[in-house]
Amino acid sequence: MDNPKVTLGTNRFGKCIIANSDINKDEVIAEFDGEIFEAERANDLPKDIADHVIQFEEHKWRDSKGIARYLNHSCSPNCGLNGLFALVAMQDIKKGEELTWDYDMSEDSDWRMACLCGSHQCKKIIGAFRLMLQDIREKYKGYISNWLVKKYHL
Ligand SMILES: C[S@@+](CC[C@H](N)C(=O)[O-])C[C@H]1O[C@@H](n2cnc3c(N)ncnc32)[C@H](O)[C@@H]1O
Ligand SMILES: [Zn+2]
Repeated sequence: MDNPKVTLGTNRFGKCIIANSDINKDEVIAEFDGEIFEAERANDLPKDIADHVIQFEEHKWRDSKGIARYLNHSCSPNCGLNGLFALVAMQDIKKGEELTWDYDMSEDSDWRMACLCGSHQCKKIIGAFRLMLQDIREKYKGYISNWLVKKYHL
């Protein structure tokens, strides 16, 4: 279920998710609880689907019925993953802040996105966990999708 402390808004990326109250570290924000898609490659999925789903196995992705599909990506995110499908706050978040996560916390496919997040640590290209540097993996420890934890024995 979507956390009532967040609201759907708009910004330069289209839809976005904003905190309407202060949020505590590790609070669940939203979940990918919708339709499951199976494909040989992410690029075989329709673009609008590929742009909004979460990868949770080598050939499987899942959409959300709620707002999880509208959190934008940042290379300095304030949210991460718990398990396979739950987006959680990775730190305390103040009212008014945008909620973001790093799509590389779950994606390890041929889908690519040019990142315009503007962070000093911007990776510029998103889509392959396998390319994530060790220091960033350390920073995200505990918030990386379970399927990648298993795949890479993290
Ligand atoms: C999961 S959706 C997020 C919601 C999206 N803004 C919308 O209106 O539906 C991901 C899409 O948002 C945009 N987006 C999100 N974060 C971005 C970023 N850091 N840089 C560039 N585009 C981004 C891209 O169009 C991307 O395909
Ligand atoms: Zn970035």
